[in-house]
Amino acid sequence: MPDIGINAIGMSVPKIILTNKDLEKMVDTTDEWIVSRTGIKQRYVLGPNGRLRPIVSAAARTAMERGGLTADKLDFIISSTVIPDRFCPAQSYEIAHDLKAENAFCFDLNAACCGFLYGLACAESFLKTRNIKVGLVTTAEQMTTVTDYTDRNNCVLFGDAAAAAVVTNDHPQHRILYTELGSTPGLCEDVIIGGAKELLQNKKTDFWFRQNGRTVFKFAVSMIKELFETVPKKAGIKPDQIRYVIPHQANSRITEAAAESALGKGGKAEFISVIEKYGNTSSVSIGLGLHESWSRFHKGDYILLIAFGGGLSWAAALLQW
Ligand code: ACO
Repeated sequence: MPDIGINAIGMSVPKIILTNKDLEKMVDTTDEWIVSRTGIKQRYVLGPNGRLRPIVSAAARTAMERGGLTADKLDFIISSTVIPDRFCPAQSYEIAHDLKAENAFCFDLNAACCGFLYGLACAESFLKTRNIKVGLVTTAEQMTTVTDYTDRNNCVLFGDAAAAAVVTNDHPQHRILYTELGSTPGLCEDVIIGGAKELLQNKKTDFWFRQNGRTVFKFAVSMIKELFETVPKKAGIKPDQIRYVIPHQANSRITEAAAESALGKGGKAEFISVIEKYGNTSSVSIGLGLHESWSRFHKGDYILLIAFGGGLSWAAALLQW
């Protein structure tokens, strides 16, 4: 079996920054509450006229330039998004059009906040089983489009962004050693973006994001701990060999609680948090974490990516730098 790996990453955000101070003017909240309860200081938002397509195509271009790749070489584009600009063409085809990637097969997937890791796992399988060499896994989210800015429980959480990774079996630089995908469908009603059909039929709808925040919080902490303990062993290493963990960025308190619970005393993995600058960007968040930390990683480092989200879905990927 050929080695598969990530060779480059790109990211892009919209121009508008929404700060906690801005939110103080919109709902009954404070910068102090938001920072202490979520770790978020600001987030980027598309605004009513913004579109994801230019953002995600820009992230894809950056990843390709960094990976030394021209569009004609792309064998596939897998795009994760919960809320695309349009249902058809899929976002991956829009990216292929913008990049002039004439030889790529394309599809979108929705695994909520786990979309990047589901995309990586798909890419890994295709690269192992088909006669192809390289593709893009992209993520792009506009959660602020379904954010109710009268609901202080949720409107402080979300930001918009895009990221893209070059995944290849041709001289892979940062190897994907193992991927794991799963779901806990008994909790499928605990994270909802509802009413798409009603919205399209112009009926009264509850289209806003709703979640049972405390249930998701507890689920996330225990799932991160479990995956931190089990995934390295399945890949043939010990949990204490993990140097960095990049969890889905939903709340800095989830990251901190999971780190404390997973590491116990004496564990040395660093749990990376980038939520302060971006908020919760759903499936983009792990790509943002990778992008922000890329230059800190050293050859041989084991890096564990762990996601959780609507579904409830969960996933992990173990990389070796
Ligand atoms: N400003 C001020 N006060 C607030 C705010 C706000 N923005 N939001 C809630 N409060 C108040 C509540 O009204 C409540 O007041 P009360 O005690 O008088 O009733 C109090 O703060 C505590 O509210 P909780 O809901 O218990 O706050 P909690 O500490 O649980 O934080 C949060 C809520 C941030 C949603 C947290 O539960 C969380 O992060 N959960 C996990 C979310 C997650 O991972 N979601 C993934 C979703 S999928 C995706 O990522 C797309």
